[in-house]
Amino acid sequence: MEDTDVSARNTRVALTVNKGIGYLTDEEMLSYFSPKVVWQIGHSRYEGPEGVLGIHHVAQLAYPGGAQRPVRSVLADDVRVMVQHVNKARTNKGVDYDNEYVKIFEFDTEGKIVAVWEYMDSLYASTAFNVLEIGGATPDTAPAPLPLSVDEVLTTTPAVRQRLDFDRPVSRSLVEECLRLAFQAPNGSNVQDWGWVLVDDPDVRAKLADIYRKGLQDHLNRDRSGEAPDTLPSDERMSKSVQYLVANMQRVPVLIVPTVARRYGGTTTFQQASRWGSILPAVWSFHLALRSRGLGSAWTTLHLYREEEAAELLGIPHDEQTQAGLFPVAYTLGTDFHAADRSRSEQRIGWNCWNG
Ligand SMILES: Cc1cc2nc3c(=O)[nH]c(=O)nc-3n(C[C@H](O)[C@H](O)[C@H](O)COP(=O)(O)O)c2cc1C
Repeated sequence: MEDTDVSARNTRVALTVNKGIGYLTDEEMLSYFSPKVVWQIGHSRYEGPEGVLGIHHVAQLAYPGGAQRPVRSVLADDVRVMVQHVNKARTNKGVDYDNEYVKIFEFDTEGKIVAVWEYMDSLYASTAFNVLEIGGATPDTAPAPLPLSVDEVLTTTPAVRQRLDFDRPVSRSLVEECLRLAFQAPNGSNVQDWGWVLVDDPDVRAKLADIYRKGLQDHLNRDRSGEAPDTLPSDERMSKSVQYLVANMQRVPVLIVPTVARRYGGTTTFQQASRWGSILPAVWSFHLALRSRGLGSAWTTLHLYREEEAAELLGIPHDEQTQAGLFPVAYTLGTDFHAADRSRSEQRIGWNCWNG
């Protein structure tokens, strides 16, 4: 057989398979593959007939109404066929998905596919599907850092509440990666006497969310007699957003409670500043690391009205450790965030003299 015949035959197979993912019968699908096939999507490997059918079935679940894959270009030699195509579908999350793909199919001499390398905008793909409904079949790969400059990360890391993706699992390794970045933050004498309680157990998350809800009630019912009157009008949008998080805290994939050693009510300003300064820089670095990877959080302190209850739930020795807050961690729905209005802060700059 001439090379051109081989590449034409392989091209036919590649296009049939590409169009047929999610549509062909399992038997038909497998008939095009070598039993030794390896299908690589980003960093995830799917091996053998089981791997192929796994991908085939995930496509059926992810695109309940089917998917269109118009081909943009094809390049073929006698071993490989590269198909550049679009993938358009309404996903199982109700999202209109429209992503660019490149698949490279490699063939054995019998004309069976022995390898597939698949490339797409995987961050976008992973926000478009309801992964839990698919059964967690989507591989747990850490997303590549977003292409954001340092200034963009510093100016577009907001309190995220209504754009937390409750359906997309967050891997433990990703949270730990962000924490490792946060550990580089300054802390008093480099003692690192902080603790990080990471909660992904649904029961514990539900209990912590209840404590948070009660904390908000405590806050609303607090004795305000010693407080200065509010000088700013209440912000309707923010309170709607706060309410949303209160109602949904238990749905956030990971809840984090950082702690710092010792208790320091009634101590000197030096001691207090040194203690808070030994945990809060790391907490903020953690937020920035999350943002850089397409995740988000909201700084919250309301549960501290019930700090002791949370300590008991999480096994934190309350007499020896102070909790710094409660931080919900999830992928964000979309990654476009804008700088907040901090214009009032301009008037707070005082050179050589305090300007309050
Ligand atoms: C010390 C501190 C405590 C906060 N406590 C809460 C909280 O308990 N619940 C909440 O929803 N947001 C809380 N926030 C988030 C703020 O409301 C938010 O950062 C602020 O409105 C500015 O919004 P931005 O961060 O999106 O620019 C807190 C923020 C800080 C710094």
